[in-house]
Amino acid sequence: MLRVPRDQAVSLTLPPLSLYIHLPWCVRKCPYCDFNSHAQRGVIPETQYVAALMADLEQDLPQVWGRTVHSVFFGGGTPSLFSAKAISDILDGVAARLKLAPYAEITLEANPGTVEHDRFEAYRSAGVNRISLGVQTFDNAKLKTLGRIHDGDQATAAIRAVIEAGFDNFNLDLMWALPGQSVDQALADVEQALHFDPPHVSHYQLTLEPNTVFAAHPPPLPEEETVWAMQDACGERLMRAGFDNYEISAWAQPNRACRHNLNYWRFGDYIGIGAGASGKITLPANESVWRSRRRKIPQSWMNAAGDGSFVAEQGDVAASDLAFEYMLNRTRLSEDIALSEFSARTGLDRDALQPGLSRAVELGLLEVEGDRLIRTERGTRCLNDLQALFLPA
Ligand SMILES: C[S@@+](CC[C@H](N)C(=O)[O-])C[C@H]1O[C@@H](n2cnc3c(N)ncnc32)[C@H](O)[C@@H]1O
Ligand code: SF4
Repeated sequence: MLRVPRDQAVSLTLPPLSLYIHLPWCVRKCPYCDFNSHAQRGVIPETQYVAALMADLEQDLPQVWGRTVHSVFFGGGTPSLFSAKAISDILDGVAARLKLAPYAEITLEANPGTVEHDRFEAYRSAGVNRISLGVQTFDNAKLKTLGRIHDGDQATAAIRAVIEAGFDNFNLDLMWALPGQSVDQALADVEQALHFDPPHVSHYQLTLEPNTVFAAHPPPLPEEETVWAMQDACGERLMRAGFDNYEISAWAQPNRACRHNLNYWRFGDYIGIGAGASGKITLPANESVWRSRRRKIPQSWMNAAGDGSFVAEQGDVAASDLAFEYMLNRTRLSEDIALSEFSARTGLDRDALQPGLSRAVELGLLEVEGDRLIRTERGTRCLNDLQALFLPA
């Protein structure tokens, strides 16, 4: 990939910084899930895990010295299996080691089957200010097919508990295109979610991921025509309720987009700690973007606290991959792409987007207006094709 000569070079600038904390255990593994999540056997070793998280974080500190963290995200796995005390200890440890922005968004993912009522209040006291609840659907038969540990009533009770605990910022995860699902059933889930006036809804089409039970034994998924009709009907309903589809699967009321995820999609920086977590850090002095990934197996990641060998893979992103990685993330967002931001985030001249950019314009997937790239409706519908145009030769 072309890197412009030094005297005309665009320089890498530091983007906002986030912190991702992976908590890898679940009550049991769902058949569709390819996240780094592991069925819990016995008691979760919280104390050992929290200590390892701090040691893991300390290793990355020299790379982010002096920078402020704008968001923290506890993802999983099922973070709500951890006690509020453990979450509080982690946040105290983070605040002692990193500069946290005064109004940092701090999200915790919760599974409706794992949280009794008082737990949410305790998470809030610990410093969490946003909950992301894995509802998936309110339909009991579908929840069973998905291998979920909760039913529709538990989902409803968990949402009420989140609201009663005083969280004015929360997300509901819904999945659609479920086995045997009709358009009306998918719409009924959206309707029921809207009943709680959620600030944010993540609306994920069920995908069959390699190496999952569903990939090995595929359930009967809706026909393509039904899938399009579901997407249109649910999207139209969410739009009518005042939600903005700011990212392919993410819908937010005004000013309620997830700041943490936005930072990923805008190619911002993040420290990633915990089993299997990934990190991305811009190092302007080295003119590089550095990526790292931790060991995936919880026990082997925790054992690494002994000798500091948490990281399984790391290295600078090759210049030839940077343009693709940027576009892979950035085209997910509905907002225009500023070419100047592309250069600031990658250190590459805008020519590095060629020949993919010209091809995307020819195919009607992107439009160019001055410094800005605009994703067209066709580009939104054919996002995979659009992204593939930027793959390195
Ligand atoms: C890490 S999980 C969220 C928290 C918690 N583990 C739970 O499931 O309740 C993130 C979300 O990804 C979505 N998801 C996971 N696997 C998926 C798949 N194969 N297709 C579509 N969405 C998926 C689900 O909506 C899930 O809530
Ligand atoms: S609870 Fe969430 S992370 Fe755990 S297996 Fe199910 S979908 Fe995956």
